[in-house]
Amino acid sequence: MKKVIAINGSPRRNGNTAELLQQALKGAQESGAEIELINLYSLNFKGCISCFYCKRKDKAHGTCAMKDDLTPIIERIKEADALIMGVPVYFMNLSSGMSAFIERLLFSNYIYSNEIPTVFPKSLPNAFIYTMNMTEEDVKQFGMREKFAVHEGFAGKILRAETKNLYAYNTTQFSDYDKYESSIIDPQAKAAYREEMFPRQCTAAYELGKSILAD
Ligand SMILES: Cc1cc2nc3c(=O)[nH]c(=O)nc-3n(C[C@H](O)[C@H](O)[C@H](O)COP(=O)(O)O)c2cc1C
Repeated sequence: MKKVIAINGSPRRNGNTAELLQQALKGAQESGAEIELINLYSLNFKGCISCFYCKRKDKAHGTCAMKDDLTPIIERIKEADALIMGVPVYFMNLSSGMSAFIERLLFSNYIYSNEIPTVFPKSLPNAFIYTMNMTEEDVKQFGMREKFAVHEGFAGKILRAETKNLYAYNTTQFSDYDKYESSIIDPQAKAAYREEMFPRQCTAAYELGKSILAD
């Protein structure tokens, strides 16, 4: 049976990112795959420590020397058939947990070779699902898609497969906006957007999960 692994790069286990990942996994499961959801923030791990062990000529390329909670997960990802990464946008970037995860997974399989820069053992279809407070217009204005195309490009090259993406804009941060200082946000407009758009974003995530093994 094929396996799809989803990585929740948000510390919130029941937030927007988790919910969209669950939808994507539901789609994958209904297309016949075995599924696994990993909450990054419940793991004890660090980002790459730049030891370059993974690139030494006298060692097996593609092996990360760091031993922590991410070690068995990287091994499971090498055996999986697709990978879906859920990313809350923090300060116009990936959350630090997701950034550290990507460093570990991608850099350990990347070599400084003119020929084939990857030692990843297979073609692994992969996708990023981003969630953010920003609107679609903000994303355009700040060139976020162009910025995120950089790590997506590395993922595609190193994991030897197409990298898909899905953007969920204008997400809800808390259930009651009156309880928090949030005067830049119009809670009614936010609620109306969520009511209309979040179900569509969930459907898009479901479809992504359903199709990720199909290509
Ligand atoms: C530390 C931090 C920084 C954030 N920075 C941004 C940002 O730069 N742009 C943005 O659109 N949203 C930002 N947000 C909002 C989150 O991206 C948004 O609420 C996201 O949907 C949270 O996902 P979750 O519900 O899965 O945790 C930030 C949130 C936090 C906690």
